[in-house]
Amino acid sequence: MPRLAFGGDYNPDQWDRDVWREDVRLMQRAGVNLVSLGIFSWSWIEPEQDRFDFSGLDEVIALLHEGGVAVDLATPSASPPPWFSAEYPDAEFVDHLGRRLGHGSRQGFCPSSPDYRRRTAVVANRLARRYGEHPAVVMWHVGNEIGGYNAHCHCPTSAEAFRHWLRDRHGDLDGLNRAWGTAFWSQRYSDWSQVRIPGATPGRVNPAQQLDHYRFASDELLDCYRTERDVLRRHSPGRPVTTNFMAGTFKWVDYCAWGQEVDLVTNDHYLVAADPEAHTGLAFSADLSRGIAGGRPWLLMEHSTSAVQWQPRNTAKRPGEMLRNSLAHIARGSDGACFFQWRQSDSGVEKWHSAMVPHGGESTRIWQEVVRLGAALRRIGEVAGSTVTGEVALLWDYENWWALELGGRPSVDLEYAAEAEAWHRAVWRQGVVCDVLPADVSAEVLSRYRLVLLPSHYLTTPGTVRALTAYVHGGGHLLVGPFSGLVDRDDRLHPGPFPGALRDLLGLTVDEFLPLREGAALTLDDGLTGRVWAEAVHPDGPDGAHGPEDPDGVDDKHGTVVDARFADGPAAGGPALLRRRAGAGLVRYAATRFEDSSLRTLLAGALDEAGVRSTAPGAGDGVEVVRRTAEDGRSWLFVLNHTDDAAEVACRGVELLSNATVTGLLTVAAGEVAVVRESGTSDVG
Ligand code: GAL
Repeated sequence: MPRLAFGGDYNPDQWDRDVWREDVRLMQRAGVNLVSLGIFSWSWIEPEQDRFDFSGLDEVIALLHEGGVAVDLATPSASPPPWFSAEYPDAEFVDHLGRRLGHGSRQGFCPSSPDYRRRTAVVANRLARRYGEHPAVVMWHVGNEIGGYNAHCHCPTSAEAFRHWLRDRHGDLDGLNRAWGTAFWSQRYSDWSQVRIPGATPGRVNPAQQLDHYRFASDELLDCYRTERDVLRRHSPGRPVTTNFMAGTFKWVDYCAWGQEVDLVTNDHYLVAADPEAHTGLAFSADLSRGIAGGRPWLLMEHSTSAVQWQPRNTAKRPGEMLRNSLAHIARGSDGACFFQWRQSDSGVEKWHSAMVPHGGESTRIWQEVVRLGAALRRIGEVAGSTVTGEVALLWDYENWWALELGGRPSVDLEYAAEAEAWHRAVWRQGVVCDVLPADVSAEVLSRYRLVLLPSHYLTTPGTVRALTAYVHGGGHLLVGPFSGLVDRDDRLHPGPFPGALRDLLGLTVDEFLPLREGAALTLDDGLTGRVWAEAVHPDGPDGAHGPEDPDGVDDKHGTVVDARFADGPAAGGPALLRRRAGAGLVRYAATRFEDSSLRTLLAGALDEAGVRSTAPGAGDGVEVVRRTAEDGRSWLFVLNHTDDAAEVACRGVELLSNATVTGLLTVAAGEVAVVRESGTSDVG
């Protein structure tokens, strides 16, 4: 593997042979060292069932090898060819209305189809046996963004697989009936054949059934991945196998669970063009990728050189923005920056999507910037393998994303990912790195953090409660958002008054949830502004006595303290922000969701109280500063100036892009980036 990977998806089957040679020449010019090859090449290498033709792929791999470009070889399972649908019509994808969706796009298959699994294993086998020992092939790329379009298939094969999965999970029908609470609305099952995938129904679907279906679907996709991975491992031992995630932006795959299954976490990220602060969303996705990777380096498998073609308005990146984006991912632990795709298509769905080699070729701004990026990555290659560690952790959980946003909740404005991102953004704005960790984290891992954030953690398991309690009692600070601690994994309420599983730790009782009308706001008596949500909360008294608020009976040592009250809104006069000492630590609870600027104030206070400082105090709004550190003690400060003004950051060392010595104050021009090897550390790598 190259030190820092640089390259992109390479789809040579779109082009004639002479273009392949030109591609390798241009890759060398730009310093490309890794391409993901053949992601959608199934019909190229197996034009008819069991007729394989590897001549094109042989030639391309040989050319790349001669040119010094390593290959991340893909299995083509993301896009079965038309012959597959003709041969196996039962393997086609069926949507929630029971409509069979045909080919002509990609991912048009049922993930539970035995025919699909068999045929993908056949192709993977042929590829691994042919290229598994090839010196150019350094990594395997299974499928592409698995489940992106076809996570929830509703065909009879899927339904049967769902029933098997439910048997494993619940044992027998009694277990299923209990877990799903089928006593309500007369949903008791008396035979397995009655159990269906929740599809179109006249009214709302049983939420526990829905949650199980989401879990099942993620597991089925994982089985597809494993089927191929195991074939690749058998015939190509020693080469890492991965598949590209969409961390934080794609809801239907539990990447926290999948993290254990890949040899290297890889992620795709595309900016939301309509969001002028999309770089904070980028940081969230990158920090989550690192969390899924257990803190180890990961790889940015796809982003775009400029515009995409699939959003409503596909704005181009501004000059310098691509470099900033790439280095922002690397700052947050990616060991490289790769793109979709190497050469811009001249036909097909993605011809208006930017690429490394644009339609206009070498004279274009984008190409010049690609060459500049390649040079930059060579200059900072020494950072590869180093890691990033935050002092703040935000706990993230796919099951919570699914459960919180099921229908039949107090408010549709309670959105899981948007709220987590808002909290993360507020920390980002304080110049602090926030690790985003899978929520089933141990108390030992939590103990490394000064502050832990738990925004709206609705579905709460005993393990999470134990870890959080031990963390707080050991001296940690915890901030919990509203509508947390309420249900178990079957969406059944935890016993006792709200907030159920978190009530003892938080030392408070929620009487009622009081969502706001659309767009409404409320104020707190400390001037902060809330939105979406209020709760009627009582702090619990000394010795954990639960009951109505006793304003004289609580103090900092013995009970829960009210820090701010609702000044208006449906809970006017009641507590809005509460605090309690527990063991050596501190828990805080927010009974509303906050406007962005208020959230920033709230989090600034929590960071301060926990003793967390900005990586570069005084760097200014919109200036991102992140440190990577190597085991041998070397460290690098990445400075990304997202503003239209020059920024100054106090540091010492060598700025690697310019090779300039920095003796105390680094100036980074508007929109520019810098990477400083901090002094006292030298390139021994
Ligand atoms: C990704 C996908 C690529 C390409 C890209 C365009 O989601 O993996 O194949 O379609 O989007 O932005």
